Amino acid sequence: MTTYLVTGGAGFIGSNFIHFMLGKYGDSIKIINVDVLTYAGNPENLAAVADYPGYSFIKADICDKEKITAIFRENEIDVVVHFAAESHVDRSIADPEVFVRTNVLGTLVMLNSAKGAWEKEDGTYPKGKKFIHISTDEVYGSLTEEGTYFYETTPYDPRSPYSASKAGSDMLVRSYMETYKFPANITNCSNNYGPYQFPEKLIPLIINNALQGKKLPVYGDGKNVRDWLYVEDHAKAIDLVCEKGGLFETYNIGGHNEKQNIEIVKIILDTLLDMLPDSDPRKKHISHDLITYVEDRKGHDRRYAIAPDKIKADLGWEPDTMFAEGIRLTIAWYFENTDWMAHVTSGEYQDYYDRMYK
Ligand code: NAD
Ligand code: DAU
Repeated sequence: MTTYLVTGGAGFIGSNFIHFMLGKYGDSIKIINVDVLTYAGNPENLAAVADYPGYSFIKADICDKEKITAIFRENEIDVVVHFAAESHVDRSIADPEVFVRTNVLGTLVMLNSAKGAWEKEDGTYPKGKKFIHISTDEVYGSLTEEGTYFYETTPYDPRSPYSASKAGSDMLVRSYMETYKFPANITNCSNNYGPYQFPEKLIPLIINNALQGKKLPVYGDGKNVRDWLYVEDHAKAIDLVCEKGGLFETYNIGGHNEKQNIEIVKIILDTLLDMLPDSDPRKKHISHDLITYVEDRKGHDRRYAIAPDKIKADLGWEPDTMFAEGIRLTIAWYFENTDWMAHVTSGEYQDYYDRMYK
């Protein structure tokens, strides 16, 4: 039986990954979710699996060396899937320090704890032990020309405190692979969307605001491009990397689904209008007039676009969910989970929103 230690499993992608893995493998795997529950971590995301025999939760900070070392000592961990991070670019612009702490120092603690638990006296590692470091396409910088893409060989050029801290963590993982032959993979994925995404990110923020008839803030000219991937497809890719990824390899993950932000906002509005029955009172608020151009993000990266050729050729991965379907599934999830949205938008979120948008 494989035991996975998932960090940041109470966040957006981590919780979707845990749902996917327990759905696919059931009782034949164990998952230990280690999460400190920042504003972005939410136990409600895992309510549906909380009682699974193979699932357990440990509240811990990945920067806490003693606690993380103890978790490795007390559990026979086979695979680490390291999601835990500060993940929002705008917050990194306002307050970079916690990004360096969690993303760089936290990753170092995770690497050292896994190395300490797994390394044999001769410096080798038992078969089956693996550390999957979840990173982002933002480390490659910003593309300007149409038809250019990020490959695994593209030089790093991070441009925000968030992407700089992720690049720092990737470099640490690379250095451990080189120096200690530490068994790891790095994955660099494009923008995810889907259930359980916190409404500080573009897609859930637009869905939530539109349903309340609030302004839809679009940064700058709205023509920045992101390459969107349905989160379950990301989970499937990570599962494949865990299973079959070549040791020390990096994989770019993306679905060739580039869209300008303004296109995304208009698709969401049109899909909401199409999906809501006329009798739903929220429908009368929704209109393209809600779109409001606001001050641009500082240092706003113009375009991201992943070339997922390697993961397709080596592991046979391709996305299953096209955007037109994924956005309907996502909106349907937010329709059904209004309590979830109400909980995550109370308290700290309101202060954040006022700071950002007023
Ligand atoms: P998220 O912000 O939704 O979740 C982050 C989780 O990490 C939360 O549960 C939080 O409580 C936890 N966490 C934060 N600091 C911690 C600490 N010190 N100790 C333990 N847990 C801590 O993030 P996400 O969008 O799910 O992203 C997950 C990972 O995927 C990140 O590493 C991110 O860089 C990467 N990524 C995200 C995207 C995206 O589009 N969201 C795309 C590519 C890669
Ligand atoms: O590319 C992968 C990255 O995608 C991940 O590494 C990050 O963790 C994740 O947050 C995401 O970063 P982005 O900055 O691309 O995502 P965000 O949803 O914040 O913004 C998407 C685009 O929409 C971006 O060009 C900024 C714009 N935007 C965002 C918000 C929140 C707006 O125009 N208005 C907004 O209110």
